[in-house]
Amino acid sequence: MNSVLESNIFSISNFVRNNSYNFKKDRILETLPDEYIEEAVKTICSWETYKPTPLVELDKLSKHLNIDKIYYKDEGFRFHLKSFKALGGAFAVDKIVKETKTNTVATATAGNHGRSVAWGAQRLGINCKIFISEFVSEERASAMRSLGAEVIRVKGNYDASLKECLKKSQENNWEIVQDVSWENYMDVPKYIMAGYSVMIKEIIDELNDQKITHVFLQAGVGGMAAAVIAGYAKFSKNIPSFIIVEPKDAECVLESIKSSKPTSIDIMKESIMGGMSCGDVSTVAWEILKNSANYCLSISDKGISSTVALLANKDLSKNKIIAGECGVPGIISLISLMKDQEKAKEVGINENSKVLLIGCEGLTDQKMYDQLLSSGLEKIKNV
Ligand SMILES: Cc1ncc(COP(=O)(O)O)c(C=O)c1O
Repeated sequence: MNSVLESNIFSISNFVRNNSYNFKKDRILETLPDEYIEEAVKTICSWETYKPTPLVELDKLSKHLNIDKIYYKDEGFRFHLKSFKALGGAFAVDKIVKETKTNTVATATAGNHGRSVAWGAQRLGINCKIFISEFVSEERASAMRSLGAEVIRVKGNYDASLKECLKKSQENNWEIVQDVSWENYMDVPKYIMAGYSVMIKEIIDELNDQKITHVFLQAGVGGMAAAVIAGYAKFSKNIPSFIIVEPKDAECVLESIKSSKPTSIDIMKESIMGGMSCGDVSTVAWEILKNSANYCLSISDKGISSTVALLANKDLSKNKIIAGECGVPGIISLISLMKDQEKAKEVGINENSKVLLIGCEGLTDQKMYDQLLSSGLEKIKNV
């Protein structure tokens, strides 16, 4: 396995330090209010099937990289939906239904968020309309149908599906549960982010607020990353460095941090990291990320399949880990960063560091996982 980790599939495409870094707990918790986070924790922890997801030590990897501890939060065990997204959409549906008494919710999705909204609606016995683009796999569509949602396929990309969702929701008086924000649509994305922050409450409780020094955070529109940062602001005395990770062809947070303002990316090539292939940072997330992310970096798709295989092979930890394509970018980024002595030194990761990685998703798409695993096993065998 050592030769794979040394190969050039592990390399960083772009790297930026945030010169506007100025972590202010109060400001963060004004953007994502304390009371939303408290309500999310109380509500989600009361659901019948709730239990914290495992925090696994990647002990073999930490030994190899000479880092004190590497923790991997395995969201593959999040309810039966197998990604952290289960926390956001389902909580937002719960809150919206309490507020509006609606009997129909709607959303546009690339997959995991829709599954969460569909499950939230199913739990409450209400209707759910899910809009997907032509690029969303049939496997993901049928997973949402099996949670009772009506799935509507729209010609074009994600933006086209969102446009159709907004139009139909307005015509029919459905409540939209969207994980991105825009002008006058901020509350629901905040509910969703409040749901995600439950991950951090669990980690801090489990580690007894032991000092974590660095956290790698995957970003699409930035909601998950900003929610984790807000979770730290709310629950922890110790604030680590936050490193944002994006696909190299969709580095909207990195470009925004670089130019100190939200900056759109015209995505020329869709990454395999589908949920993270987003061209615009969410407005609410940006308000948090602009002063609280320490570094941003981007990676190509090259290391995805090999890392999926290394985890499945027990090469990085004692036990086998099943991770989907958006589960592994934190691992890839850490390995790549440690190969670049200068950057590792700048970020301050060394033998005393305790690093947290978020394993955002497990087996959310069996077909995709099987393909990644077999090509990854082939690659690590031949390096
Ligand atoms: C499946 C999935 N979707 C989306 C995202 C990105 O979240 P957000 O769009 O809130 O930044 C991630 C993060 O890695 C993910 O794993």
